Amino acid sequence: MTTILEATPPGGGRWTPLRQAATHVLLDNWTGAATVPSRALYPHQWSWDSAFIAIGLRHVAPRRAQRELETLLGAQWDDGRIPHIVFNPAVPLDAYFPSPDFWRSSTAGRAAGAPRAVQTSGIVQPPVHALAAWQVHLADPAESRRRGFLPRIYPRLAAWHRYLATRRDLGGGGLAAVVHPWEPGLDNSPYWDAALARVEPAPPHSFRRADLTHGSPSDRPTDLDYARYVRLAGVYRDHDYDDARTPHAFAVEDPCFNALLIASEHALAAIARTVGADPADARAHLRRAEETTAALVDRLWDPAAGVFGARDLLTGEPIGGYGVSGLVPLIVPGLPAQVTAALLRTAHGPRFRLGQVHLVPSYDLTAEEFDGNRYWRGPSWFNTAWLIHRGLVRHGRAGSARVLRTQILTAADSTGFAEYLEPYTGQGRGIRRFAWTAALALDLLHSGERDVDRDVEERDADERDAEERDTGGDGVSTARGEAGATR
Ligand code: SER
Repeated sequence: MTTILEATPPGGGRWTPLRQAATHVLLDNWTGAATVPSRALYPHQWSWDSAFIAIGLRHVAPRRAQRELETLLGAQWDDGRIPHIVFNPAVPLDAYFPSPDFWRSSTAGRAAGAPRAVQTSGIVQPPVHALAAWQVHLADPAESRRRGFLPRIYPRLAAWHRYLATRRDLGGGGLAAVVHPWEPGLDNSPYWDAALARVEPAPPHSFRRADLTHGSPSDRPTDLDYARYVRLAGVYRDHDYDDARTPHAFAVEDPCFNALLIASEHALAAIARTVGADPADARAHLRRAEETTAALVDRLWDPAAGVFGARDLLTGEPIGGYGVSGLVPLIVPGLPAQVTAALLRTAHGPRFRLGQVHLVPSYDLTAEEFDGNRYWRGPSWFNTAWLIHRGLVRHGRAGSARVLRTQILTAADSTGFAEYLEPYTGQGRGIRRFAWTAALALDLLHSGERDVDRDVEERDADERDAEERDTGGDGVSTARGEAGATR
């Protein structure tokens, strides 16, 4: 424990207590092989939480950050999916719902290749993992090389992306679909209201929620939401988690999920070069990133609204509205300039009021459905704010990025690392000492302003790679990747 605390850089003035407090949250939530998002509300390992946690942990415990991702990938299914929860067998079944006896992964998931030794859920979460793995490597390339971190995880990350690109391209248009509102991670976003309304709720007495023990019901999804979540997960399980055979009552394409897939595909290209994979592999990842970017713009961009929407694959219709998910493609390299300009206008406009309210609301402040307290129906979350900060940096909006960074750090501090905030008052909502809030605050504290340089380098590397691909260049880019890595 002391070692990690001592490993934090000296100085730092005003933020030193925050840095120490954030590190303590990560230490307290570490279980020996991974980090729980919260000891109380989320007492197992969550997929995209772990990726964000690793991004922060790398600054204070790079080896532990590697293990975080390795533990998660150790529960990967043979079909390539990374489950959204890896259950800790030491935690009582009634501590979290739905528990392992609901998912029954090792039996129902057998045909899809679920692991036998560990119990998991059967659905997925956004693919932040390759991006996290690359950043974890960059934090301590020598230790990463010594442990063979990237060579060990590269095939698993590639299999994960293949799963999303093939079995999850349910719309056939080159984007990954999600089949449960827990998969895009934005559970009760108004985005899903119409699609979910068609789902027959599970009978109210057929399940018992555990989440309401730990917080105010007004901060959480409703019982009716849960009844639909349970129905969808149960039907998927009862069809052996087979994507082709399950009669999905909910299947949508989400912009945040796909933007993260694109960013991770770029990271995977860098990882492929670094592990000395066949240069054709790195080129294939970049090509895939570009194709997914084109599909994202083609299928989800709403030029009239100036934001990305989602798409309902059961009706074939776009899902309108302004969710924070629709702003996250700001992190995607190579978006058309007019799309980026419109996104930045929307972020600063009346619906999100970037810089005028706390962080970035999860849903349109002007919409009737907006609820500033209830989970993803309005509250501001730290992970989406961190992603949008990254997008602002990428697009050279240093002033807005600095304001958002300060807001994130101030709010992490004032709320005791809340899960989310009411955007107007900045008051914490959900649980406290939430791991990704601490991790992403740590990341901004350590790499904050320097991210500008690093992102410029990444963009340059992307462009050089594209050039090389066009001119049939060879693996010289490996050296460039490492040059960026050791800065
Ligand atoms: N976010 C969901 C929950 O609240 C599941 O991942 O438990």
